[in-house]
Amino acid sequence: MKRNVLVVANWKMHGQLSWIEKFVKELNRGLALETAEHLVLCPPFVYMEHLYRSLIGTGIRVGAQNMHGTSQGAFTGEVAASMLVDVGCKFVILGHSERRTQCGEDDRQVAIKFELAKQSGLTPILCVGENAEERAAGLTEVVIQRQLDAVLLHAGQEAFSGAVIAYEPVWAIGTGNSATPEQAQAVHAFVRRHVSRHDPDAAAVMPIVYGGSVKAANARLLAEQSDVDGALVGGASLVVSDFLAISEGFMSAVAR
Ligand code: PGA
Repeated sequence: MKRNVLVVANWKMHGQLSWIEKFVKELNRGLALETAEHLVLCPPFVYMEHLYRSLIGTGIRVGAQNMHGTSQGAFTGEVAASMLVDVGCKFVILGHSERRTQCGEDDRQVAIKFELAKQSGLTPILCVGENAEERAAGLTEVVIQRQLDAVLLHAGQEAFSGAVIAYEPVWAIGTGNSATPEQAQAVHAFVRRHVSRHDPDAAAVMPIVYGGSVKAANARLLAEQSDVDGALVGGASLVVSDFLAISEGFMSAVAR
């Protein structure tokens, strides 16, 4: 039996109201009841409340793609954790590699957001992962340990209790070049071992999801890995039939 399975759609900067309405309608049509509670949809901020309302009664939850690291104040263009909670958001993706590289977010800023998310009642989905050069240099575990340690240092030994970690190798995101199931399993096992040194109870139940070119074709094999508890899906989450097939791939692992 798998840990709590989560399949998270990261829509990034895609979608519009009419598209979302169609997406939700088609998703509900194809979805088994027991799968819904394992799904999280992360739209752009402006669509959060609309999406939340259109999902009431379905069991599908809503997440954000980012938040600010302060609770309120003079931060033009930013969104606070409490505002996300206010409009029905339950999860927040933090430290996505696109934010680390394009917006200059560093480990410490991500750790500050992580702690605030938890305090605000959101479940953080912490993204960790190495880039191609780091993998080639044999630094995968060094990089991921550094990213995890920043959170442990800031938010304490029990930081990962109630949290989700997403292993997202940067070289696999949006490239069509997914990590192999074996590569994903090795890093997921490392992440769990490392968290377990600080909080064995949290490590045992914490979902560790894989992200990076997850598709219908590779979902099932990834799902079969003992430490792969779900997926963070970018491109393929924009196509209902693909997202449904990926979800089913992971749900088949729940039953085992
Ligand atoms: P991808 O993106 O599925 O398009 O590779 C994953 C992500 O960035 O979370």
